[in-house]
Amino acid sequence: MEQQLLDYNRAISIAEGTYWIGFHDVQSGLHCNPYLILDGNEAVVIDAGSRPDFSTVMMKILEIGIDASSISALIYQHYDPDLCGSVAHFEDIIDRADLKIISDKENNMFIRHYAVSSRLISIDSIDHAFKFSSGRKLQFFNTPYSHCPGSFVTYDTKTRVLFTSDLFGSYGAHWDLFLSLSPECHTCQYLEMGSKMDLERCVRGKTYCPIRDIFRFHQMIMTSEKALGYAMQIIQKIPVAMIAPQHGSVLSDPRDIRFVTQSLALLKGVGIDRIIP
Ligand SMILES: [Fe+2]
Ligand SMILES: [Fe+2]
Repeated sequence: MEQQLLDYNRAISIAEGTYWIGFHDVQSGLHCNPYLILDGNEAVVIDAGSRPDFSTVMMKILEIGIDASSISALIYQHYDPDLCGSVAHFEDIIDRADLKIISDKENNMFIRHYAVSSRLISIDSIDHAFKFSSGRKLQFFNTPYSHCPGSFVTYDTKTRVLFTSDLFGSYGAHWDLFLSLSPECHTCQYLEMGSKMDLERCVRGKTYCPIRDIFRFHQMIMTSEKALGYAMQIIQKIPVAMIAPQHGSVLSDPRDIRFVTQSLALLKGVGIDRIIP
């Protein structure tokens, strides 16, 4: 995908019937990435976004050419305000008695505090899957404590896009919706050194290292090496073609996906392990 052709003021198609509908906030190092999946006349929104971002996100949905009432479900992969803050606004504009708000039961006890009026559905009550009326299936995989007890990821069996919420996220001044690593990144000797990484200094002399921002984000946000390693084990078993995180950038090169997944599985100094080695 050519970066220079992308207009971040519009919804951007990342896969068949799948759109990035986020707010490109140039002032913030934390870019939030809500996504919409459109299947026929039915739409689902994943990690819909914060309250301040609501008008931008909703405008992009309307620009895709769908009516808000086409949204049959809102999926929240954990309960933070950067993805759930606008839930009551979405309920108002969608205005459907049968709107489904789907999350893990561990998240739902917090999500209801966003003044939700719709019925909250837990993923274990629907066999960890959501079916569009066409039969298209989204599968949910729990990734406990990465970073919330009820965190999970969502896999679209049609496009093989995996929506990972904070996993594979990144924090930093540099942002593009799509990230492609340089071939030499795959052989970065610092990454292979695990706990002895020195990502301040790129061995190839590049000024910007996207991996450094990804690692820092996980070390700060995830709870422990054990929880992150477990999440990567789960994800490695899924036949993923694209990673679509709630922060940072989309990965679509299979080598990049494999490399970042393996690197995160070995990452040291994550969460409490950073404080109590
Ligand atoms: Fe979060
Ligand atoms: Fe987040």
